Amino acid sequence: MSDETETVMPEPGTVLKTLADIPDPGGLPADFEPTPIVVLRSGETVTAYLNVCPHAGRPFSLPSGKTLVSEGKFLVCPFHGASFDVQSGACVGGPAGSAVLKAVPVKVENGQVVA
Ligand code: FES
Repeated sequence: MSDETETVMPEPGTVLKTLADIPDPGGLPADFEPTPIVVLRSGETVTAYLNVCPHAGRPFSLPSGKTLVSEGKFLVCPFHGASFDVQSGACVGGPAGSAVLKAVPVKVENGQVVA
């Protein structure tokens, strides 16, 4: 059963994070509500996804905001270790099967990550 509750996505131009605040490589929750979004950075590459692991619905970010990005390539869920390609959102290992993360289109403008 899929849960197609209404997902509120940020309007184009919404500032989600200051690029310099995001560890490189790493990630942080976006400054946006009510939808949880995680912003990932690996060098010049910035991507964003819903901050909800498709395995068991937990957030990718720890309570501190720290988000695990391994080798600059893989977002790793801290709960059971599912790994996702930071560029495509595709699951590449762990218990989330063939799930693909829901992407949030972002770009970098004047040092800000915007929707
Ligand atoms: S909730 Fe993410 S791997 Fe289980």
